Amino acid sequence: MGEIKDADSVGEVGNPVCGDLMYIYIKVKEENGKEIIDDISFQTFGCAAAIATSSMVTELAKGKPLDEALEITRGDVADSLDGLPPIKLHCSNLAADGLHDAIKKYREKNK
Ligand code: FES
Repeated sequence: MGEIKDADSVGEVGNPVCGDLMYIYIKVKEENGKEIIDDISFQTFGCAAAIATSSMVTELAKGKPLDEALEITRGDVADSLDGLPPIKLHCSNLAADGLHDAIKKYREKNK
């Protein structure tokens, strides 16, 4: 949890349902010709479910190549937490979207 001051990219997403906000910070390193998520953290201004899913997405993505991290879905995040109550499912959308946004911005910056 927390900001990575020298992050290589920052994903930013808002939840239109409730107005909550999430930042996903990533540090990327090259290893065997692949770009790997070396470090990842989050800042979430939202409910407990949004914070739990933020934390889970960092666990799922750390150490993964960017291509694999991009395949982490909203459903993967919720399933890894053994599901969420239906009313809280929209909260889990932020985490995967924030991760994807960080990777997309990293790739745009490093074309
Ligand atoms: Fe806003 Fe959960 S209520 S993200």
